[in-house]
Amino acid sequence: METAEIRRRWLRYFEQQGHTVVPSASLVSPDPALLFTVAGMVPFIPYLTGQQIPPYPRATSVQKCVRTLDIDEVGKTTRHGTFFQMNGNFSFGDYFKEGAIGYAWELVTGSQDDGGYGFDPDTIWVTVYEDDDEAEQLWRKVAGLPGERIQRRGRKDNYWHTGAAGPGGPCSEIYVDRGPQHGREGGPVVDEDRYLEIWNLVFMQYQLADVRSKEDFAIVSELPAKNIDTGMGLERVAYLLQGVDNLYEIDEVAPVLRRAAELAGARYGADPAADVRLRVVADHVRAGLMLVGDGVTPTNEGGGYVLRRLLRRAVRAMRLLGVGEPVLPELLTVSRDVMSRSYPELLTDWERIASVVAAEEEVFLRTLSAGTTILDVAVREAKEERAQHPRLSGERAFQLHDTYGFPIDLTLEMAAEQGVEVDADGFRELMRAQKERARADAVAKRGGRADTSAYRDLLTEHGLTEWLAHTTLSTESTVLGVLDGGAPVPAAGAGRVVEVVLDRTPFYAESGGQDADAGAITWDGGRAEVLDVQRPLKGLVVHQARVLEGELATGERVLAQVDPDWRRDARQAHSGTHVVHAALREVLGPQALQSGSFNRPGYLRLDFSWKGALAPQQRSDVEDVANRAVRDDLPVDVREMPLEQARAEGALALFGETYGERVRVVDIGGPWSRELCGGTHVSSSAQIGPLVVTGESSVGASARRIEAAVGMDGFRYLARERDLVQQVSGLLKVQRDDVVDRVGQLLAQLREADRELAALRTAQVLARAASLAASAEDVGGVALVAADAGPVASADDLRALALDVRGRLGDSRPAAVALVGVARERPVVVVATTAAGRGAGVRAGALVRAAAQALGGGGGGKDDVAQGGGSDATALPAALQAVRAAVAATTGS
Ligand code: ALA
Repeated sequence: METAEIRRRWLRYFEQQGHTVVPSASLVSPDPALLFTVAGMVPFIPYLTGQQIPPYPRATSVQKCVRTLDIDEVGKTTRHGTFFQMNGNFSFGDYFKEGAIGYAWELVTGSQDDGGYGFDPDTIWVTVYEDDDEAEQLWRKVAGLPGERIQRRGRKDNYWHTGAAGPGGPCSEIYVDRGPQHGREGGPVVDEDRYLEIWNLVFMQYQLADVRSKEDFAIVSELPAKNIDTGMGLERVAYLLQGVDNLYEIDEVAPVLRRAAELAGARYGADPAADVRLRVVADHVRAGLMLVGDGVTPTNEGGGYVLRRLLRRAVRAMRLLGVGEPVLPELLTVSRDVMSRSYPELLTDWERIASVVAAEEEVFLRTLSAGTTILDVAVREAKEERAQHPRLSGERAFQLHDTYGFPIDLTLEMAAEQGVEVDADGFRELMRAQKERARADAVAKRGGRADTSAYRDLLTEHGLTEWLAHTTLSTESTVLGVLDGGAPVPAAGAGRVVEVVLDRTPFYAESGGQDADAGAITWDGGRAEVLDVQRPLKGLVVHQARVLEGELATGERVLAQVDPDWRRDARQAHSGTHVVHAALREVLGPQALQSGSFNRPGYLRLDFSWKGALAPQQRSDVEDVANRAVRDDLPVDVREMPLEQARAEGALALFGETYGERVRVVDIGGPWSRELCGGTHVSSSAQIGPLVVTGESSVGASARRIEAAVGMDGFRYLARERDLVQQVSGLLKVQRDDVVDRVGQLLAQLREADRELAALRTAQVLARAASLAASAEDVGGVALVAADAGPVASADDLRALALDVRGRLGDSRPAAVALVGVARERPVVVVATTAAGRGAGVRAGALVRAAAQALGGGGGGKDDVAQGGGSDATALPAALQAVRAAVAATTGS
C-alpha cells in the first residue's frame, strides 16, 4: 500500500467518525517552547490546555514533524527518521479512552477491502501505563486482546509530553510483531525492533511543568477536559505494509536512496557501512527539503542550525561515499518528485527551495576545504603535543566552529578518523557561555526576560487579550497586571518602566515585520508612554510603558490610545513593503522571494533571495515600478479565508509565521501583490506616498537587502538630496546639471596640482642635497653629515634626502649621514651609512638609537639605513650631538 493511500485511508476513516480534517501545520512550531512541530498535537496545544476554545470537538490530521534527538540513530535502525508524518486523531473533551481504543483497533485490524490497514489481530501487542487498569480492561473488552499481549510500562515509556511544559498524560502504545526472524519473543518490553510501535494513544489530562526528561517532570494540575491525542507513524506503517525492511526503503524515501547509490557508484545492500550512509542521505535530504519548504533557512542557531546540520551531514555522507561534487540539487529534485504528491507547494515554491539548498551546499563545500586544512593543522599539533591519546582542546573546536563555521559533529568525526579525541565538554561549555551572552543581549535589548511564567499565569487567569488593532485606535480597558523587572506588582509609580497587560488593547504588537505601535495609556491622575508592544505568548499582548505621572495600578480603568500619526506612517511603511516586494518580483522574477522584513514609520527593509548585487538599472526599475503602483492608486483589499483557499489563490506566505485555520490575505491591486499578512495597511496605494530606495546590500550567501524611505520620510530624503545639490552648485557657481562635470574637472585639476607639487618637492630636496653633502665634517676619519633639515612633509622625504646625500658622498668614502627634522610636529631622525663607513664600524641602527633616545623615543633599522623618532622637538640639536658622539666613540677619536 502506497504511503499516500495510507494517509488517505486515515483521513477518510476519521472523517467518517465525525472528525474535522485539519491540514498539516508548518514544521516551524507555533508553540514558543518548541523549535519544531514534534508531534501531531502541537498545533492543537491551545485547545488541549483550554487556553482557546476548540472550534470542533474532534479533529484529525496528517502532520509533518521533525525530531532530531535521535539523529545519531538514523540509518542504523529500521525506524528512526528526522522527518516523518504523524497521523493523529484528537478529542477535545469529547470521547476518551474507550473511543480511542475502539477506533484504533477497528482501523488497524479492519480489512483492507473495507478501508482498514488489515493487520492480523494476532500480531498486535499493546502497552499501558503501570497503573492504568482501565486501559487494560478496555483492550480486553473492545479488542478481545489476551492479557499476555498487554504489557505495563512506567513513565519512561508510557507517559507522553512534548519535552517542554504543557499538556501530557499516560499513554497506551500499539505494536506489530514482525516475526521471530526479527528478534526475541516476549513483546515490546523485550525487543522493540521485532515488535514495532506504530501508534501511540495519549490520554491527555494533565498540565505538566519542570520537564527535565522523559521521566522527570511535575504534574501541576488537571486539564479542564479529558482529551485524546494519538499519533501513528505514517512511515512505520508504510514500511510494514510495503514489505520492506525499514523506513528508508518506502516509496517516499527509496528513490533518493537509489539515486544517491547511483551517484556514488555503490550497490545498496552490499556494504553495511555504506548502507547506513545512503540511508542518512535519504533521510536528511527529505528533512532538508521539507524544512526549507516551510521557510527555515540554514543559520548557526536554533532551527536554522538543525537544518544546516542535516544538509551538511548529507553532503558529508556523500563525501564519505566518494562523491566530492555538489549532490544536493539532484537528490533534492528526486525527493521533491515523490513528496510533492502530498505537498504540492513544494512545486510552486521550488525555485526558492532549490536555491537555498544549493547555496548551503556551496558554502559548505568551501568551508569543508578551508576547514579541513585548518583541522588537519590542529590535529597535527595535537599529535605533536601528545603522541599518546592526542586531544584537541575545546577552544580549538570552538574556534573552528565560531570562526570557520566548521560544525562540531564534523570536527568530532574527522578528528576521530585520525585517532584524535576532542574535548567536547570544553566545547559545549564555550558554546553555552556564548549562548548565554547572546541571550542576555537579546533580553537586555527587549527589556524583557527569558522566563515566561509570569505571562503564563496572566494568560491562565484572564485568558487572551482582546486585540483591537484592526478596528480602533483607542479603547477603554482594565489593567490586568503590571510587571516590574519581570515580577507582578500591585502598582508602579512615576519613572518606572514596566510591563502592562490590559484586558483589551488597540496597540499593534510587533509581528510579521511590522514594528510595535507607539502611544499612551492614561487614567484618572496618571499617564504612561508606551515604548514597545510584544506578544510573548500566543494571544497575550504585553505593553512596555514608562509611567510619566501618577501610579499605574492593577485593576485601574485606563484609556489606551495609539498615536494616530505613528499608526498612519506605520500603515504606509507596511503597505510600502508589500509594494516593493511585488515590484522586485516584477523586475527580477518570482524567485526574488522575501525572506524577512522590518518596517516602522518612514522606513522599510526587505530581505529577499537573490545572488549578486542589483545593477543600477534594476534598482531604479524596482523604484519605478513601486512608485507607479503608488500613483495608480490601487485598491488595498483585506480578506479572511481558509489557508487552503489563500494558497490556491497564490498568496505569498511569510515563512516562519504561524497561521491558524483562517488567514488574513492582503491584496494590493488584486493579485499583483497578494500576501498572507496580519499587519496594518493603508486603504489604497496612493496613501503610501513616495517610495525611495536608499540602499541595497548583501545579507548572507544568497540574500540581498533593499531599504527604502516611505511617505514623508521618502519626500524628506529627496528634499535633502536636492538641498545638497543646491549647496554644491552654489559653491561651484554652476548650474545643477553641470555639477558632476565641474566636480570631475576639479578632481582632475587637483591630481595635476599634486603631481606638480611632488616634482617641486623633489627638486627642492635635491637642491639641498648638494649643500648638505658639502657640509660634511670629519670625525675620526669618517665624513659625517649631521644636520637639521627643518620641517619635512614626512619621514619618507627625510629618508629620500639622506639617501641622496649619501650617494653624493660616494660608497668608497667612509661616511655617515644623520638628518633630523620635524614631520607633522613630531621629531624624526634618519641615518644612512656608506659601505666604507660601515667598514669603519659605523652602523646606522646604532646611531638612530642614540639620536632617538635624545628625542625621547625609539627607532632602529639595519646597518645601512635606519629611522626613528621621538616626542621632544626641542632636543633635535642634542640628538645630532649624540650622533657625533657615537661616531667619535666608534672611530676612537
Ligand atoms: N503525541 C503523541 C506522540 O507523539 C501521540 O507520540
